[in-house]
Amino acid sequence: MESIYLIGFMGSGKTTVAHELAKRCGAAVQDTDRMVETNYELSIKEIFAAFGEDTFRAYEHQMLINTNPANTIVSTGGGIIESQQNINWLSTHQVIYLKTSWAEIVRRLQHDKNRPIWNDQTRDKLALLNAREEKYLQASKYVIQTDEKNPKEIANEIVRLIRINK
Ligand code: S3P
Repeated sequence: MESIYLIGFMGSGKTTVAHELAKRCGAAVQDTDRMVETNYELSIKEIFAAFGEDTFRAYEHQMLINTNPANTIVSTGGGIIESQQNINWLSTHQVIYLKTSWAEIVRRLQHDKNRPIWNDQTRDKLALLNAREEKYLQASKYVIQTDEKNPKEIANEIVRLIRINK
């Protein structure tokens, strides 16, 4: 099986859905955020604080292109599409965009303290979501609306989509 990449904004459920989907497909799971943290031995928060976003993006790119090409569900960071190089790379892969409304994202992330961009009071996150929409669409093959669906339902929908389009 060709690896499947999940993209979408922070709080769209990529990690949870990746595990659900992996169970159904008998696949492994990789997460570019966790790969960065393991590889560079620092948390995302520490990387942003010490080196800034550009360094994080460079690390993230390295992890993305080193993900398993087969038998893996890959959960990516919400800003993976901030690099045109990543968009180009993703558009040649099996990519699913988990699309989530602003209201739902706010509901899910209201208590989050770990995501540096989400917690940066100087940034307009709604504007960021709107600016990223086009990039998620460019990078993906399929779009799944996630509002009012649980991770199991979303995973089932992905399995169906991929079977139909085989
Ligand atoms: C980011 C999303 C995060 C993480 C980093 C930057 C972003 O991943 O990669 O904090 O720019 O949207 P999640 O989408 O898993 O929260």
